[in-house]
Amino acid sequence: MQVLETIAELRLARRLMNGRVGLVPTMGYLHAGHMALVDYARQETDTVVATIFVNPTQFGDGEDLTTYPRDLPRDFDMLESAGVDFVFTPTPQMMYPQHFQTYVTVENVSQGLEGAQRDGHFRGVATVVAKLFNLIQPDVAYFGQKDAQQVVVIRRMVQDLNFPLDIAVCPIVREEDGLAMSSRNVYLNPAERMTAVVLHQAIQAVGEAYEKGERHPKGLLEIATNLIENEPLTDLNYVSLSDPVTLDEIDVPRNTPMLFSLAVQIGKPRLLDNCLLPLSLNTREGVTRILGVDQKAR
Ligand code: PAJ
Repeated sequence: MQVLETIAELRLARRLMNGRVGLVPTMGYLHAGHMALVDYARQETDTVVATIFVNPTQFGDGEDLTTYPRDLPRDFDMLESAGVDFVFTPTPQMMYPQHFQTYVTVENVSQGLEGAQRDGHFRGVATVVAKLFNLIQPDVAYFGQKDAQQVVVIRRMVQDLNFPLDIAVCPIVREEDGLAMSSRNVYLNPAERMTAVVLHQAIQAVGEAYEKGERHPKGLLEIATNLIENEPLTDLNYVSLSDPVTLDEIDVPRNTPMLFSLAVQIGKPRLLDNCLLPLSLNTREGVTRILGVDQKAR
């Protein structure tokens, strides 16, 4: 595995890469969720490039930019063992040099859910991902369903700005008890960690009610709200049923696919989770079909 520390090194390496290039963008402190993206990329493309960059523009004031967990040596070991060919680790100064002033704003789909809680977050995400696409020029970029709104924002950007690549989406990787893996789970103390399984329980309960025929958004959302609010240590930010393309909130029963998502503050971190309804869509193929981009379909 070759570590590329500068844009010049990356551009040189890119010219020599063979076959289809798969990109896995991350902020590091890797876990099995990130590694699932790497494994798909390894299986499906010829050259795998991972990036590790804690992107300052997607963190708001008072968020955890300076304390975001980092462990580059461990990340390199994990990526190397997984067969990654290149890892790009730029500094903030390289990505945002003096006089930087060009940003990508994806409008409507950036505004609800996480966007409503984190002002400017998706502008930072879209900007850095656009830069990584231009630098690495991948054929396929891999993203996790864990951050479903992020995928919807990036898909919109790729389609609106005609980036010549596919977006592959990978289902959420979970701990044994169901908690979605996240670099920020390290912030949970033992009692909070036990409480955190309630997000997955809410997903399962909503999924089961849907399978049994419940279609009223109010009924489905109430199931989740009650479960979360009955648990001490939780502070519910939102529960939502939205259209997986527009992210418009759904308020009347419907039978086409829906995105159920929730955000809950437990101690320090805000934890996110989601699923597509019906639950049978939460597979590699299902989430890519509903949330991703397939060039053949464009
Ligand atoms: P980061 O939080 O490091 O996540 C990198 C990728 O891993 C994202 O696509 C995310 O959705 C995916 N991922 C995280 N946890 C996952 C899990 N439990 N199961 C499946 N996939 C999971 O997301 C970012 O970084 C940044 O916003 C980035 C896209 C790199 C732009 O800065």
